[in-house]
Amino acid sequence: MKSPLPLALGIFYLIHPQIRIMKKVLKYALLVIVVGLVVCQFIGPDKTNPAIEEGADLLSVENVPANVVDILKTSCYDCHSNETVWPWYTSIAPLSWGIINHVNDGREELNFSTWKSYKEGKKLHKLEECIEMVAKGYMPIEGYVKMHDGAELTDEEKVALKGWIKERLGDYVGEHHVD
Ligand code: HEC
Repeated sequence: MKSPLPLALGIFYLIHPQIRIMKKVLKYALLVIVVGLVVCQFIGPDKTNPAIEEGADLLSVENVPANVVDILKTSCYDCHSNETVWPWYTSIAPLSWGIINHVNDGREELNFSTWKSYKEGKKLHKLEECIEMVAKGYMPIEGYVKMHDGAELTDEEKVALKGWIKERLGDYVGEHHVD
């Protein structure tokens, strides 16, 4: 069999100028990416923790048992309160944009820090939705659970959360008919 070496050398000789061009292209592509990433750090949504009104929080307004307080604080408060803890990676755009949007959207839908301002009907409705969202596995959001040890609710925790909410709902039956 003939040695493949001359063929390899021949190919190299042919594409050699192209390699130089490719290197140049790669260099510029890398530069564009780096500049793009730097620019990203200055645009996009900002991380916020709006001021907390004393006595307005769910935990001040309602009589929540300690184990349920733990569950809410560990698994829900980062997105559903004004007490968000922002890990280091939430400072890195564009990754941070999605996370900040989640927190903003989460607060808009349900903010335990402003619980006092909710009318009773809204409170009941939101609490009932909490059972539904957790039962369906929508909350806490999957990506959050992956990044936070202990945020995923165990069956026991789900029972505890639901138990307190059912008690709080009393006779209320909303559109979700959770049982
Ligand atoms: C990583 C952020 C994040 C975490 C953690 C999180 N949520 Fe959410 N939650 C959201 C976002 C974003 C929405 C709104 C968008 C949507 O409906 O998917 C939402 C919506 C909801 C809603 C729906 C409100 C409505 O009116 O439709 C409920 C209820 C809820 N979350 C409960 C919880 C509970 C209970 C926990 C903790 C066990 C929790 N969430 C944890 C981000 C989060």
